[in-house]
Amino acid sequence: MSLEFSAEAQKKIAALCERYPSKKPVVLAALHLAQKEFGHLSDEALQLVGHTLDLPYAHVFGVATFYTMFRREPGGKTTIRVCTNISCMLRGGYDVLAAFESKLGLTKGQSNKDFGLVEEECIAACANAPAVVCGTKYFLDVEPAQVEEIIRYLREHPHPESEVV
Ligand code: FES
Repeated sequence: MSLEFSAEAQKKIAALCERYPSKKPVVLAALHLAQKEFGHLSDEALQLVGHTLDLPYAHVFGVATFYTMFRREPGGKTTIRVCTNISCMLRGGYDVLAAFESKLGLTKGQSNKDFGLVEEECIAACANAPAVVCGTKYFLDVEPAQVEEIIRYLREHPHPESEVV
């Protein structure tokens, strides 16, 4: 196996393994660390997580492909997640998504060297719909006219999802 976790990541994973009675609960954190270190979760990265936690590849693959915050392909530095779930849909989430698609020249699910664009399920900001999240940064009550300004802000302040761990 040519991929290896850094010493720091190995230490974090070992500390988490101490905290739980089994290694399964550590999968999410290990996947976040793998994405942070390798940029995306290739087959090899999933094998490394499985090997590190003594878990079957199928289990790790199932977790990695269930959650939208994990990337199986290389993506942009900042992934823009636009919620179109019920509250956001009712308050113009699809118009916001269309504005991002138009300003970035991307279709949802695509990425370029700077940005990835994802149509997202509820991101727990329904009271301020429509909402957009990038890494740990939320944009609330977003209107299509603000999209250009948000993109400019994110170009100057990239918010990688790897900040999460
Ligand atoms: S429906 Fe969009 S944040 Fe909940």
